[in-house]
Amino acid sequence: MEWGMANRMAQLIQSDGHALFLPIDHGYFQGPTRKLEQPGKTIEPLLPYADALFITRGVLRATVDPTKTKPVILRVSGGTSVVGKDLANEGITTSMEEAIRLNVAAVGISVFVGTDYEKDSLLNLSKLVDEGERYGIPVMAVTAVGKELEKRDARYLALASRIAAELGARVVKTYWCEDFEKVAMGCPVPVVMAGGPRTETELEVFEFVHDGMQRGAIGVNLGRNIWQNEHPVAAIKAIRAIIHEGATTEQAQEIYDAEKNN
Ligand code: 5RP
Repeated sequence: MEWGMANRMAQLIQSDGHALFLPIDHGYFQGPTRKLEQPGKTIEPLLPYADALFITRGVLRATVDPTKTKPVILRVSGGTSVVGKDLANEGITTSMEEAIRLNVAAVGISVFVGTDYEKDSLLNLSKLVDEGERYGIPVMAVTAVGKELEKRDARYLALASRIAAELGARVVKTYWCEDFEKVAMGCPVPVVMAGGPRTETELEVFEFVHDGMQRGAIGVNLGRNIWQNEHPVAAIKAIRAIIHEGATTEQAQEIYDAEKNN
């Protein structure tokens, strides 16, 4: 691996082989998502506990202090919205030149396997990988499901993750599911798990993060279940303990309970 690529990968995946990415890119298709109306304020107390931020260029430039931040995974796909015809019809929104100017550690793009736009999104990924490899910038592929949350089973996620890796993604972001080892073992590059919509309890999040880590994930790219939590710092500290300190779900809950009153 070239030095630049290796250095960027090391910014993302820590020396223990694990990673906690904090995504705040949701506005690129859902507008001012709850608790993300002012992204700069939302992330300020969370940044010390994140390994990287997943973010669009607009929010990065407008709300993140360039002198006090973490490695950036730049969201470079989009062009659709929740009120539009089809979330899967994304294109590439940001050039590699802009990614380099913003000094990013990686770029991220969604792929929509099994949709009318499967081929377009997979070819967009391939083109992005060609450009990223030219400049030493890793590509994180996001196995997106749009509004079809029920798609999140091992068979589908293993298929989508493997295809993304085959096309050259250096990291794959997918969802946790039952039998997660089928996803992780079938994917030859590191896999991180998204959180999805807010769960009823913190414990559910700690349980799936712990389970996914045991079954081969290297970490998370987890947003709403951190920053929509009533105690976001407590939530990120507890999740960080599972990822980087091997905490059990019970220990994570103890950390959360102790931290939430601070
Ligand atoms: C939005 C994304 C998010 O980065 C991803 O879904 C993770 O966020 P959450 O944990 O809130 O699901 O790709 O398009």
